Amino acid sequence: MAKPVQYNNRLGMKGWWGGRYGLERWAYFLHRLTGLVIVLYLILHIFVTSARVFGPEAWEATMGAVGGPVFRFLEYLLIAAITYHGFNGLRLIFIEWFGWSLGRPRRPIYPYVTSLHHQRPLLIGMMILAFLFLVFSAWGFLTP
Ligand code: HEM
Repeated sequence: MAKPVQYNNRLGMKGWWGGRYGLERWAYFLHRLTGLVIVLYLILHIFVTSARVFGPEAWEATMGAVGGPVFRFLEYLLIAAITYHGFNGLRLIFIEWFGWSLGRPRRPIYPYVTSLHHQRPLLIGMMILAFLFLVFSAWGFLTP
Protein backbone atom coordinates (compact mmCIF):
# COMPACT_ATOMS: atom_id res chain seq x y z
CA MET A 1 0.00 0.00 0.00
CA ALA A 2 1.29 3.48 -0.87
CA LYS A 3 2.58 5.49 2.06
CA PRO A 4 0.34 8.51 2.78
CA VAL A 5 2.02 11.84 2.06
CA GLN A 6 2.57 13.95 5.16
CA TYR A 7 2.82 17.69 5.04
CA ASN A 8 4.39 19.59 7.88
CA ASN A 9 2.33 22.42 9.36
CA ARG A 10 5.20 24.87 8.99
CA LEU A 11 3.09 27.99 9.52
CA GLY A 12 1.45 26.79 12.76
CA MET A 13 -0.98 29.40 14.13
CA LYS A 14 0.44 31.97 11.70
CA GLY A 15 -1.47 30.06 9.04
CA TRP A 16 -4.71 31.51 10.49
CA TRP A 17 -3.95 34.89 8.99
CA GLY A 18 -1.36 33.98 6.36
CA GLY A 19 -1.95 33.81 2.62
CA ARG A 20 -4.30 35.62 0.26
CA TYR A 21 -7.63 36.42 1.85
CA GLY A 22 -10.87 36.00 -0.08
CA LEU A 23 -14.35 36.39 1.37
CA GLU A 24 -14.62 32.74 2.45
CA ARG A 25 -11.20 32.88 4.13
CA TRP A 26 -12.27 35.93 6.15
CA ALA A 27 -15.45 34.09 7.10
CA TYR A 28 -13.34 31.17 8.37
CA PHE A 29 -10.98 33.45 10.30
CA LEU A 30 -13.86 35.36 11.91
CA HIS A 31 -15.65 32.11 12.80
CA ARG A 32 -12.59 30.87 14.68
CA LEU A 33 -11.99 34.25 16.34
CA THR A 34 -15.62 34.65 17.46
CA GLY A 35 -15.70 31.02 18.66
CA LEU A 36 -12.72 31.72 20.91
CA VAL A 37 -14.20 35.03 22.10
CA ILE A 38 -17.41 33.23 23.16
CA VAL A 39 -15.43 30.56 25.04
CA LEU A 40 -13.45 33.34 26.79
CA TYR A 41 -16.68 35.11 27.72
CA LEU A 42 -18.15 31.86 29.09
CA ILE A 43 -15.16 31.47 31.44
CA LEU A 44 -15.34 35.14 32.53
CA HIS A 45 -19.09 34.84 33.04
CA ILE A 46 -18.62 31.90 35.43
CA PHE A 47 -16.00 33.85 37.42
CA VAL A 48 -18.08 37.04 37.61
CA THR A 49 -21.36 35.37 38.57
CA SER A 50 -19.57 33.21 41.18
CA ALA A 51 -19.25 36.43 43.24
CA ARG A 52 -22.78 35.64 44.46
CA VAL A 53 -21.29 32.89 46.64
CA PHE A 54 -19.60 35.56 48.81
CA GLY A 55 -22.86 37.29 49.73
CA PRO A 56 -25.08 40.09 48.44
CA GLU A 57 -22.46 42.84 49.03
CA ALA A 58 -19.81 41.05 46.96
CA TRP A 59 -22.42 40.49 44.25
CA GLU A 60 -23.47 44.16 44.19
CA ALA A 61 -19.79 45.30 44.12
CA THR A 62 -18.96 42.96 41.23
CA MET A 63 -22.06 43.94 39.27
CA GLY A 64 -21.15 47.59 39.83
CA ALA A 65 -17.63 46.99 38.50
CA VAL A 66 -18.91 45.43 35.25
CA GLY A 67 -21.61 48.03 34.61
CA GLY A 68 -21.46 51.36 32.80
CA PRO A 69 -21.33 52.38 29.12
CA VAL A 70 -17.97 50.71 28.37
CA PHE A 71 -19.20 47.28 29.51
CA ARG A 72 -22.52 47.89 27.76
CA PHE A 73 -20.61 48.50 24.52
CA LEU A 74 -18.48 45.38 25.11
CA GLU A 75 -21.70 43.42 25.69
CA TYR A 76 -22.97 44.61 22.35
CA LEU A 77 -19.71 43.49 20.70
CA LEU A 78 -20.28 40.10 22.34
CA ILE A 79 -23.79 39.97 20.86
CA ALA A 80 -22.22 40.81 17.46
CA ALA A 81 -19.67 37.97 17.88
CA ILE A 82 -22.38 35.46 18.88
CA THR A 83 -24.65 36.60 16.03
CA TYR A 84 -21.86 36.21 13.47
CA HIS A 85 -20.81 32.83 14.86
CA GLY A 86 -24.41 31.57 14.96
CA PHE A 87 -25.40 32.64 11.44
CA ASN A 88 -22.10 31.60 9.87
CA GLY A 89 -22.25 28.34 11.88
CA LEU A 90 -25.71 27.65 10.40
CA ARG A 91 -24.25 28.27 6.92
CA LEU A 92 -21.48 25.74 7.65
CA ILE A 93 -24.03 23.20 8.93
CA PHE A 94 -26.13 23.67 5.75
CA ILE A 95 -23.05 23.02 3.60
CA GLU A 96 -21.18 20.41 5.67
CA TRP A 97 -24.11 18.38 7.04
CA PHE A 98 -26.80 18.81 4.38
CA GLY A 99 -24.55 19.32 1.37
CA TRP A 100 -26.47 22.44 0.29
CA SER A 101 -24.85 24.44 -2.50
CA LEU A 102 -22.10 21.85 -3.08
CA GLY A 103 -23.28 20.87 -6.55
CA ARG A 104 -23.26 17.39 -8.06
CA PRO A 105 -20.06 15.35 -7.90
CA ARG A 106 -18.39 15.14 -11.34
CA ARG A 107 -15.05 14.25 -12.86
CA PRO A 108 -12.45 17.02 -12.69
CA ILE A 109 -12.32 17.60 -16.44
CA TYR A 110 -11.40 20.96 -17.92
CA PRO A 111 -13.18 23.44 -17.94
CA TYR A 112 -13.53 22.90 -14.20
CA VAL A 113 -16.68 23.97 -12.38
CA THR A 114 -16.71 25.54 -8.97
CA SER A 115 -19.55 25.60 -6.46
CA LEU A 116 -18.47 29.07 -5.35
CA HIS A 117 -21.21 30.75 -7.40
CA HIS A 118 -23.76 28.82 -5.27
CA GLN A 119 -21.91 29.12 -1.98
CA ARG A 120 -21.12 32.81 -2.10
CA PRO A 121 -24.80 33.90 -2.33
CA LEU A 122 -25.49 31.65 0.70
CA LEU A 123 -22.69 33.41 2.62
CA ILE A 124 -23.90 36.86 1.60
CA GLY A 125 -27.53 35.95 2.40
CA MET A 126 -26.60 34.70 5.89
CA MET A 127 -24.54 37.85 6.52
CA ILE A 128 -27.49 40.06 5.53
CA LEU A 129 -29.67 38.11 8.01
CA ALA A 130 -26.98 38.50 10.70
CA PHE A 131 -26.79 42.23 9.98
CA LEU A 132 -30.58 42.65 10.25
CA PHE A 133 -30.54 40.66 13.50
CA LEU A 134 -27.82 43.00 14.84
CA VAL A 135 -29.74 46.13 13.85
CA PHE A 136 -32.85 44.85 15.65
CA SER A 137 -30.86 43.78 18.69
CA ALA A 138 -29.14 47.21 18.83
CA TRP A 139 -32.59 48.73 18.88
CA GLY A 140 -33.67 46.50 21.77
CA PHE A 141 -30.33 46.93 23.51
CA LEU A 142 -30.16 50.73 23.39
CA THR A 143 -33.79 51.44 24.28
CA PRO A 144 -34.35 51.07 28.04
C1 HEM B 1 -25.91 29.24 17.48
C2 HEM B 1 -25.01 28.48 18.07
C3 HEM B 1 -23.77 27.95 17.38
C4 HEM B 1 -23.64 27.42 16.12
C5 HEM B 1 -24.72 27.25 15.05
C6 HEM B 1 -22.24 27.03 15.98
C7 HEM B 1 -21.70 26.42 14.86
C8 HEM B 1 -20.39 26.02 14.75
C9 HEM B 1 -19.86 25.20 13.68
C10 HEM B 1 -20.68 24.62 12.52
C11 HEM B 1 -18.55 25.03 13.91
C12 HEM B 1 -17.56 24.22 13.05
C13 HEM B 1 -16.90 25.13 12.03
C14 HEM B 1 -16.27 24.33 10.89
O1 HEM B 1 -16.85 23.36 10.43
O2 HEM B 1 -15.17 24.74 10.45
C15 HEM B 1 -18.21 25.75 15.13
C16 HEM B 1 -16.94 25.85 15.65
C17 HEM B 1 -16.65 26.42 16.87
N1 HEM B 1 -17.55 26.94 17.76
FE1 HEM B 1 -19.52 27.20 17.43
N2 HEM B 1 -21.55 27.34 17.13
C18 HEM B 1 -22.46 27.88 18.02
C19 HEM B 1 -22.20 28.30 19.30
C20 HEM B 1 -20.95 28.30 19.90
C21 HEM B 1 -20.70 28.69 21.27
C22 HEM B 1 -21.78 29.10 22.28
C23 HEM B 1 -19.34 28.59 21.45
C24 HEM B 1 -18.53 28.86 22.67
C25 HEM B 1 -18.90 28.60 23.91
C26 HEM B 1 -18.75 28.14 20.21
C27 HEM B 1 -17.41 27.94 20.01
C28 HEM B 1 -16.87 27.39 18.88
C29 HEM B 1 -15.44 27.16 18.66
C30 HEM B 1 -14.32 27.49 19.63
C31 HEM B 1 -15.32 26.56 17.41
C32 HEM B 1 -14.03 26.07 16.73
C33 HEM B 1 -13.62 27.10 15.69
C34 HEM B 1 -12.46 26.63 14.84
O3 HEM B 1 -11.82 25.62 15.15
O4 HEM B 1 -12.18 27.28 13.83
N3 HEM B 1 -19.76 27.97 19.29
N4 HEM B 1 -19.35 26.34 15.61
